[in-house]
Order: sequence, then C-alpha cells, then structure tokens
Amino acid sequence: MNKKVLVTGGAGYIGSQTVKELIKNDYEVIVYDNLSTGDKRAVDSKAKLVVGDLADTKKMDETFKKFKPDAVIHFAGSISVPESVENPGKYYHNNLTCGVNLLEAMAKNNVKSIVFSSSAAVYGNPKKVPVSENDQKDPINPYGFTKLAFEEILKSYDVAYGIKFTALRYFNAAGNGKVGDDLSIESHLIPIVVNCALDPKKELKVFGFDYPTKDGTCIRDYIHIEDLADAHIKALKNMDKTHKSAIYNLGVGKGFSIYEVINAVEKSSGKKITIKKSPRRAGDPAELIANAKLANSSLNWKPKYDNIESIVRTSWDWHQNNKDKFKA
Ligand code: UFG
Repeated sequence: MNKKVLVTGGAGYIGSQTVKELIKNDYEVIVYDNLSTGDKRAVDSKAKLVVGDLADTKKMDETFKKFKPDAVIHFAGSISVPESVENPGKYYHNNLTCGVNLLEAMAKNNVKSIVFSSSAAVYGNPKKVPVSENDQKDPINPYGFTKLAFEEILKSYDVAYGIKFTALRYFNAAGNGKVGDDLSIESHLIPIVVNCALDPKKELKVFGFDYPTKDGTCIRDYIHIEDLADAHIKALKNMDKTHKSAIYNLGVGKGFSIYEVINAVEKSSGKKITIKKSPRRAGDPAELIANAKLANSSLNWKPKYDNIESIVRTSWDWHQNNKDKFKA
C-alpha cells in the first residue's frame, strides 16, 4: 500500500514542488494549507487539498482522523526575514504556536514521523563558512529564532511521544517561480531581480554594499527547489529505515554575491538591471554557505543545480512562460 503523507503548506513555493515529487514517487498526498500565501493552482491534481489553518485544531484533528497519514512534511509558516523583524508576533504565532498545534495533533493521532522546513537562519552570522550542523546557532532575527526554537520543540516531542523528525536547514531556496506570487510585495532577491529584468522601469535596491565580502554585497548559497524537494523524499525514506531523528543542512556549498546574482539574471534575460545602492537591511548576515556533506552522505543527496547561472535560468524561463497563466 502506498504511504500517505500530510503536507502542511503544500500549496506554497517549496511545498507544491515537493508534493509533485511525492506523487512521482507514488506517495498519497494530503495538502493542508490555509491558502494565505499558497495558491491552489500550485497543488498537483493528484493530491487532496484541505483548506485549513494550523490554528484550527478541530479541523486539523478531523483531517488526521479522516486521512490517517503515515507521516507529515511541515512547510507551513511565515518566511520573510525583514517582516519578522517588523512583526515578530506573527512569526511566534505562525511558526511556533501553530507548529505545536500540529505536533499535538500528531501525538493524539499516533503519527510518528515529520520532516520540518528549518533554515540557515538558525546560524545567524556564522564565525566561519561553510557552516556545519554542529556549529554555533545564534539567530539574529525572529524568523531564525522561531526555526531554532521549533527544532528544540521537535526534540521534546521525540522524547515525550517518540515522534521522529528530520529538520532540513535550507539555505537560500531559489529557482522556477511561485504560482500566484505578487512580485510587487516579494522580498526575495532572485524573483525581484527577474521582475526588474521583465520591467525596465524598475530598479533593484541592493541592500548593503559595504559588507566584508569579495564585492561588498551579501553572499548566499542558492539551492534549487527541485533539489530541496528531492531531499524531502530522501529524508522520509531515511527515517523509515533508521527510525532516528536528524538535522541536515541543504545547500550547494558555494556562495554567490548579490552582484553575481544580478549578472546571472542579465545573462539569462539579455536585459540590463538598474541598481540603486541602498542601506543594509535589518537582520541580514553577511555570508551564509552550507557544508552539506552530512546530507550528501546520509541521505545520498546531491543537488543537480550547482551554479547560480543554471538556477537563475530556471527562474527567468518560468517567469517568461508563466507570467500570465499564474498571476497573483
Ligand atoms: N536583497 C537585496 N535587494 C532586494 C532583496 C534582497 O539586496 O530587493 C538582498 C538581501 O538584503 C540579502 C540577499 O539579497 O542580502 C538575499 O536576500 P533574500 O531576501 O533573497 O534571502 P535571505 O537571505 O534574507 O533569506 C534567506 C531565506 C531564509 C533564510 C535566510 C537566512 O529566505 O529562509 O536566507 O538569512 F533563513
């Protein structure tokens, strides 16, 4: 019999990609999403969609009872670093309180396996890069703090109820595009640069150009969402085998500056990006690069997109092909 997986946030950017990959791998999928930022057009037609909120404990319990999933993949949550600095309460509610609701529903319904979307933001400003899982965790924004706190919460649910978890610390998720994305309120670099290439009247604000990096701009490790989706399937299968909880970094292991991202978009699009040097954005670390050797060896996972040009090209192509079909 096929395994059943309940995917919270399965209508979102990384969640919907992972749902497609689960279906390809013959899992039965139930998406639980409140559609606040996700879009039902992103949900694979072979998945069942339950429109519900993690704050709605009654609906969640009913969903667990109705579908009896074997495992959970938990994407739902708030994801913007600058927004978390301005509105921390939203992050503590969505990423912690709602996450605890989910774990309570799992405990009550005897579901013993969860894959959680954690983040490189748990490290804050690392003392050295590439950063490894056991290096110091010192988040510098509320978003990162919620991700680290939820990892600790997962550990206590493992101790109390034997719920095994895999926390996947994504570095900068990128590539393709997000169905229903409103690019006018987008905060992530690549879709914003792509939008500037699509509309020559727009200028790109470069937040901080005096960081202690090779060209003064922030360095990030961009990881394609198809590679992230693949890691989730491998994490589920690995937990089935080992019955152990684990934490992995997911990144390519190479860092690219904002200027290098801009160059890559210019190369893919053939358009020149107008930039405006702007003050640093609150909560941004200078440099984040993953040491992902543990995921490479334990999960047998290797990203197929390993350079910024190939990642950005999928983003440019996606927006070219889908800009009318999947508008906000
Ligand atoms: N940036 C600009 N201009 C923009 C948008 C972004 O210069 O218009 C810069 C940011 O200041 C940052 C870099 O581009 O230096 C990347 O920013 P993103 O918003 O794309 O991504 P973040 O690095 O802030 O966030 C990502 C993930 C989080 C993760 C975090 C760790 O989205 O999940 O990295 O800091 F936690």
